[in-house]
Amino acid sequence: MKRKKYFGSNLKMYKNVAQTESYLKELADRTRELCMQNPDMELFILPSYTSLETASKSTDQSEIHLGAQNMCWEDEGQFTGEISPVMLEELDLHLVMVGHSERRHVFGESNIEENKKMLAAMKHGFTGLLCIGETKEEKGYGIADEVLRTQIKVGLHGIAAEDLDKVWIAYEPVWAIGVNGIPAPVEYAQEKHHVIRETLRELYGEAADVVPALYGGSVNLENATRLFVQPDIDGLYVGRVAWDAKRFAGLIADCLATGEK
Ligand code: 13P
Repeated sequence: MKRKKYFGSNLKMYKNVAQTESYLKELADRTRELCMQNPDMELFILPSYTSLETASKSTDQSEIHLGAQNMCWEDEGQFTGEISPVMLEELDLHLVMVGHSERRHVFGESNIEENKKMLAAMKHGFTGLLCIGETKEEKGYGIADEVLRTQIKVGLHGIAAEDLDKVWIAYEPVWAIGVNGIPAPVEYAQEKHHVIRETLRELYGEAADVVPALYGGSVNLENATRLFVQPDIDGLYVGRVAWDAKRFAGLIADCLATGEK
């Protein structure tokens, strides 16, 4: 099954409201032609919470989809500091990220919590972008595949096959993310994406083929095209290199210019 081509960026805890707005405007201007030439391309940006409302008002989401970086699984209640799916619904968002490595490893979230968030995303009609990835230590013990399989099986537990068109996966090895990250070798990334595909198939059969799997973790201008053309990589989920609109648009153009996957 042919899936779309995905390019997205998580802005993490960077850019204030004005910076986010001007970034989105510049990115839209620089990618408009590419979007028109490539109707199967899906571009998305996840700004900070405080920028979401302005971003949603000022962005044409037929060009750039917007999403939140995290969400509580409850609609309301005594959850100080959390943001509910009902609050996100007010902002006309399509996408919610769940289980980014910084949520799991800096803020101690578990697979079970990520599952509750994915179920809440389905209930409220959001696309849930479930992030998975092994730590350096887990890789060292040779259990990366088991970790990925567990994160998928628990993360998607209880999600019906009919809801799979609202599920995206991002494979982001923890050791590859951020300023101290080492980009995953392309062959390694493809191999792990294959494990993801097999696990999804095992759980859902052919229905799983609608679920895209994106690679993230130190994607840069040197490795982007090689990662993008891998058979089981449906797109790139980029941090630092995408936070400059010109550079991100250039990276996307390079990938699309590599031709049909
Ligand atoms: P970097 O591209 O900066 O490594 O970040 C990737 C990431 O965390 C995307 O969610």
